[in-house]
Amino acid sequence: MAATSPTTTTTIFLLLLLLLTLLTFTGDALSDHLNTTTTNLYLSPKTLTTNYNNMLNSFKIFIYQTPPSPPPPQHSLFYKSLINSHFITQDPNQAHLFFIPFNPSISTRSLARVIKNIRTNHPFWNRTLGADHFYLTTSEGVDLSSDRNIVELKKNSIQISPFPTSYGSFIPHKDITLPHVLEKPKPLVNDTKKYMFLGYMRLSKDIPLSLSEDIKKSEYFTVEHGPLDSKFCLFMYHADVSWIVEAMASRCVPVVITDRPIQDLPLMDVIKWDEIAVFVGPNSGAHGIKKVLEGIEDSRYEMMVESGVLATRHLAWNEEPKPYDAFHMIVYQLWLRRHTVRYARWVE
Ligand SMILES: *[C@@H]1O[C@H](CO)[C@@H](O)[C@H](O)[C@H]1NC(C)=O
Ligand SMILES: *[C@@H]1O[C@H](CO)[C@@H](O)[C@H](O)[C@H]1NC(C)=O
Ligand SMILES: *[C@@H]1O[C@H](CO)[C@@H](O)[C@H](O)[C@H]1NC(C)=O
Repeated sequence: MAATSPTTTTTIFLLLLLLLTLLTFTGDALSDHLNTTTTNLYLSPKTLTTNYNNMLNSFKIFIYQTPPSPPPPQHSLFYKSLINSHFITQDPNQAHLFFIPFNPSISTRSLARVIKNIRTNHPFWNRTLGADHFYLTTSEGVDLSSDRNIVELKKNSIQISPFPTSYGSFIPHKDITLPHVLEKPKPLVNDTKKYMFLGYMRLSKDIPLSLSEDIKKSEYFTVEHGPLDSKFCLFMYHADVSWIVEAMASRCVPVVITDRPIQDLPLMDVIKWDEIAVFVGPNSGAHGIKKVLEGIEDSRYEMMVESGVLATRHLAWNEEPKPYDAFHMIVYQLWLRRHTVRYARWVE
């Protein structure tokens, strides 16, 4: 028979269609979440997708059955998403990391007992002295204590706590911060940006504002208008900087006044915050800050706005986790930390 049968043609056609659909879907899904060609946002754009996909396929986390502990309220969404995710394994021997759930209001003594039980009843803690373990806590972290269990937990285990953290409670390169749960980004109604600054006072009028008087009095600083009216949104680090993601979603470039390099920003080892926000010292004063901001060229400013909007996708929480959202990016940061130092055994 010379002619191809209709059935074969149909099958080939359907297969091609399926292939095309698959290709289109994959392409869309990636470009939708990562526009690596148009921004400088990512620290390692080439490896992000590969590492992320490896994480999706391989990452396994074991959860200890600690005494009954309600999920920590500040991170209930992360906790809920984690325990319902496919990353959880019942077999600790397959796990890359170990999760120790406890209520953040637990006393230091009880927490020490939890760790002691884990150390005694399972072989995994002693292997790394807790370095492949992680826990959730408040911005204040775990209280100081000379108890060996607490010392190892604080020093070695990965701490996940809400941003911003209290001074001294965060260890860079090991610990991770959770972004603030973002309110729905408001639609951009008016693109004419008159004002340079927006104080966070709009968002929290009751908190005493510690901005210097000359910034408060200057004509280009306003608390009357929202981020939509402002080119830049002004924040004091340690005041209400958790709103930084809201500003980015509203296309307002955050300006953070801080007296030291900030080390606990969310996604610190995935994105370049210098591409999204401006960091200025506390002694610059209104005119100093104005000068810095006026020095930013329009093209650079537009790039910062776009990078900020792109970054909010990775900082947004969803009831049902979505690819590359806040939940997945926290898990991604855990995945990057899975190669922990394995301490040599002292005694064989
Ligand atoms: C990615 O960048 C291209 C080129 O600038 C643009 O056309 C496209 O809309 C961007 N995609 C997303 C999802 O932002
Ligand atoms: C871990 O080491 C401690 C001593 O540092 C020991 O008391 C404990 O029994 C060890 N745990 C296991 C499971 O072997
Ligand atoms: C946008 O804001 C500018 C400045 O406040 C105002 O002049 C203009 O009428 C506004 N446009 C719209 C469409 O509201």
